[in-house]
Amino acid sequence: MLAASGSSVDAQNSVKMTVDGASKFYQTRSGGVHALDDVSIKVREGEFLCLLGPSGCGKSTLLWSMAGLHGLSGGEIRLGSEKITKPHPEIAMIFQEANLLPWRNLARNIELPFEIKKQDPDRERINKLLKRVGLEGFETKYPRELSGGMQQRASIVRSLAVNPSVLLMDEPFGALDAFTRDEMNLLIQEIWMETGKTIIFITHSISEAVFLADRIVVMSARPGRIANIVDVDLPRPRPVKIQTTPDFLDRVEAIKAMIDHRPS
Ligand SMILES: Nc1ncnc2c1ncn2[C@@H]1O[C@H](COP(=O)(O)OP(=O)(O)OP(=O)(O)O)[C@@H](O)[C@H]1O
Ligand SMILES: [Mg+2]
Repeated sequence: MLAASGSSVDAQNSVKMTVDGASKFYQTRSGGVHALDDVSIKVREGEFLCLLGPSGCGKSTLLWSMAGLHGLSGGEIRLGSEKITKPHPEIAMIFQEANLLPWRNLARNIELPFEIKKQDPDRERINKLLKRVGLEGFETKYPRELSGGMQQRASIVRSLAVNPSVLLMDEPFGALDAFTRDEMNLLIQEIWMETGKTIIFITHSISEAVFLADRIVVMSARPGRIANIVDVDLPRPRPVKIQTTPDFLDRVEAIKAMIDHRPS
């Protein structure tokens, strides 16, 4: 069953990233927006952590801060003991849109992070990854010649090619059809199991979170706060058809109830 996960359960697991009292206020012309309020999370080394919550609850705000892409108003983010204030080579981010450059073919899109770092591309690693995600032979294709799922696979290869230890994913499969989304969820589970990366994955979908996560951080509406942290102890690898089992559906229902009945 679902187990509420306490904040001190990580004694035997090393902590990879720490979100410590994160708060964020945005100043806009029409006034201030309180997007995050005192959010603290310890992300364990090698875990698959999902952030789940309603639109506007601050999930992207939190992930962008974890990527060092924007600052917090209060609190801090650490990778190990290192404070994150700007993008870090160990941390890669994948967005809802694949964000491939339309004028570059697939191979040259994947090489972009190496160019930015003024490094030679690791072709052996890139070729292995392309094969792994089923894109071998598509290297000379342009983004417009690839399906949405293929583009998102390419963006996964682009992120993993530089071998980060943390992968931050902001609703990466939200724009895909249900069938492709299932395929991508299987793929990311397999890649995660093979590589041992630490993955922090945002989703609106309770079933996607239950399918993928070791733990789910359930966030409440604005200002974003942690409503619950839930362990998902379903065995792995999880097949797509697990989503129709009573065990799986019980977990989905329990989280739904948590969201419906959270104190305001
Ligand atoms: N750059 C910004 N300037 C002002 N307000 C912002 C900015 N970015 C986000 N916000 C506001 O902060 C709140 C949290 O936004 P955020 O994008 O983090 O939510 P989210 O949980 O990722 O939502 P969604 O699920 O729709 O992607 C929202 O009210 C949003 O309007
Ligand atoms: Mg978002």
